[in-house]
Order: sequence, then C-alpha cells, then structure tokens
Amino acid sequence: MTLNLLPMATQDLQFQVTRNENAKTPEEREAILENPGFGQFFTDHMVDICWSERGGWHRPRVQPYGPIQLDPAAAVLHYAQEIFEGLKAYRHADGSIWTFRPDANAARMQRSAKRLAMPELPTEYFLDSLKQLIAVDGDWVPTQDETSLYLRPFMFAKEAFLGVRPAKKVNYYLIASPAGAYFTGGVAPVSIWLSTHYTRAGHGGMGQAKTGGNYAASLVAQQEAYENGCAQVLFLDAQRGEFLEELGGMNVVLVTRDKRLITPDSDSILEGITLDSVLQLGRDRGYTVEQRPVSITEWRDGAASGEIVEAFACGTAAVITPISEIKAESFGIRMPEVEDRVSLSLRDELTGIQYGRVEDRHGWLHRLDA
Ligand code: PLP
Ligand code: COI
Repeated sequence: MTLNLLPMATQDLQFQVTRNENAKTPEEREAILENPGFGQFFTDHMVDICWSERGGWHRPRVQPYGPIQLDPAAAVLHYAQEIFEGLKAYRHADGSIWTFRPDANAARMQRSAKRLAMPELPTEYFLDSLKQLIAVDGDWVPTQDETSLYLRPFMFAKEAFLGVRPAKKVNYYLIASPAGAYFTGGVAPVSIWLSTHYTRAGHGGMGQAKTGGNYAASLVAQQEAYENGCAQVLFLDAQRGEFLEELGGMNVVLVTRDKRLITPDSDSILEGITLDSVLQLGRDRGYTVEQRPVSITEWRDGAASGEIVEAFACGTAAVITPISEIKAESFGIRMPEVEDRVSLSLRDELTGIQYGRVEDRHGWLHRLDA
C-alpha cells in the first residue's frame, strides 16, 4: 500500500476560531512578559489541523491552549513519528509583528516530514497558521529589547495502531511561548562540552530532520555537559569521531584571522536558517564562507596558532552566542578573549533586521499581523 504524502493542490483553509474563556488577564500576561525566560509560559490559544490518508488536511482550528487527548496506542508514543519547527515573532518599534524567513521553516518541515514518512504541510497552510495564532495572541509578542514570541509548529502520528508503518492519521499543531535569552548568561560566551562517547545522528539517519528522536539522542550528552559546567554539547561525526557536527540545539561556526567563516558540511546535521542567514551576512561583509568537513584537530591547532580567532553557536533560540571554550575528557580548547567580536557584530546586524532596526535587504521579513 502506498501513502499519498505529497502536498495536494492547496485549498483555502477556513479556520474555526474558539476563543479561550479562561485567557490570562492583561495584568497576568504583562507579568509573564516582564521576565519570560525560555519555553516556560504559553499563550492562550493553539492551532490544530488534522490530516488523514483519506481526507488530506482538514478541520483547521484555533482553540484554547490546553491538553491534547491521545489514545495510549497513538503511534507517536511508541515509534516517535514526530517533527517540529522553531521560529520567532518580533515586535517592531511601530507595534507591528513580523517573523523571519518562515518559508524556510515551512520548507524544512516538509523535508522533515518526507524523512519521517509523514504528510507535507503546504507552505500556505504553515504561514496561515502563524497568522491565525497571532490574530488571537498578538498581545503576547513582548515589547522589551531582544524578547520575542517563540513559535513552535509540530506534527505527530496520532493514529492508534501498534503495527510499524507510517501513520494514517497525523495532526499539526502550533503553540507559542514568550521568550527572552535562551542561555541564562544572555550573550556572554559559553563553554561547550565535546561528547566523545555519544553521537547524535549518523549517515543515512535522521540528523537533517527536526525530529524529537535527535533531541532524545542528545539528552544524556547534554546532561554530561551540565555536569561539566557547560551550556551545550558538541557532537562529532558518528563514523570517525573526528569531524564537527553541531551542538544539541545549534549550529557551530569558526572565524579565522583572514576573514573566513568555517562551518561543517554534513548530511547528518540540521540545515539551520540562522546559520544560512549569518553566512549570507558574512559574505555581504567580504568574508569567505567555507562549508566543508572540519575536524576537531583543525579547531584545536587553529586556536593554538591564532589562525582561528572566534567560534560561535547559532540558532533561532540562541541567536548567535560566542563560544569561550571547548571542554573534553582529555583536552580543552580555549578561545582568545577578543575585544570586537565579529560574532556579536553579526548578531547585532541579524537582530537589527529581525526587529526592524536595520534594512531588510534580503527580503527575509514576513509580516504576521496584517
Ligand atoms: N541544529 C539543531 C540541532 C537545532 O535544534 C537548531 C535549532 O533549531 C539549529 C541547528 C539551528 O537551526 P535554526 O537556525 O533554523 O533555528
Ligand atoms: C530552536 O532554536 O528553535 C530550537 O529548536 C532549538 C532548541 C534548543 C530550543
């Protein structure tokens, strides 16, 4: 039996909107927005679109945020057929609400869906879901500097069936969570733990997909990172344990003295949208971009010789955060103290575009409240 997993010709989705009668009061909401942290609080509503093999995408709804009813045999609980995305809504000085390259998130979610044998949500539906949620929860987009509303689209296998095959019933959801800095120290440089026992994904695996399984695989190593006083874990390639892959939830970039930005090329890491944007901003500044296998030895030697002058992590949640050191069981890499970090200047430019302070010359912004 074959499943039709391709996006069908899209038709207008008419969302049924049910307002949350128990929504937070403006005072309660403002108290949360004053210090949102990351991923702890959720807005009053969520979006839900059903998919079935027979009916395609249907029953789009905006409904009160709350628990999801699941059959204990739902395939996701057993075989982890699940994917997600992450992007942010930014409040501009004039009060308008924008997001950043959402078409790229929609396309990546379609690639993730393909890898996990799930139906692809058409880009129009993805974009529409963001607008629908902002239409009811726009007041949750914070106004303070460098805060945003983190948008978390996700999709999972809802069919109650214990046979191992792609589910015939899937649901797409969108929830949102006001966000401050991901790391408690803000933009202060972070220490990274190099995992030499665990890998995250391998050749032919799911590394390029944004699926919960990859994060489950990272948790024990992330725990090791915390135990060693590090904020994140860095994984090496699964085959040789020699080449850089990515951090648990971010991509990694090295900066050289002669203006090169070096980042791993691998078929087992997530194709970061922040990374792609930062590399473009680097090219615009005359940096040469090298996307190729990068060994940990190259980093160690380059840092020792003064060739590699900076390293940073990048992703939607972390934006751009400098790396101060790599700690491993048997060695360490200390990055030099730098006065004017290009990583922080790229961060300023990127967030400047996202918050409407810097010209959006690549057409990356997408308005959500109009
Ligand atoms: N790599 C992993 C494992 C991630 O979880 C993320 C965050 O989403 C990234 C890289 C960066 O991707 P993006 O910049 O699209 O957020
Ligand atoms: C994101 O940056 O959107 C992620 O999904 C990564 C996670 C660390 C929150």
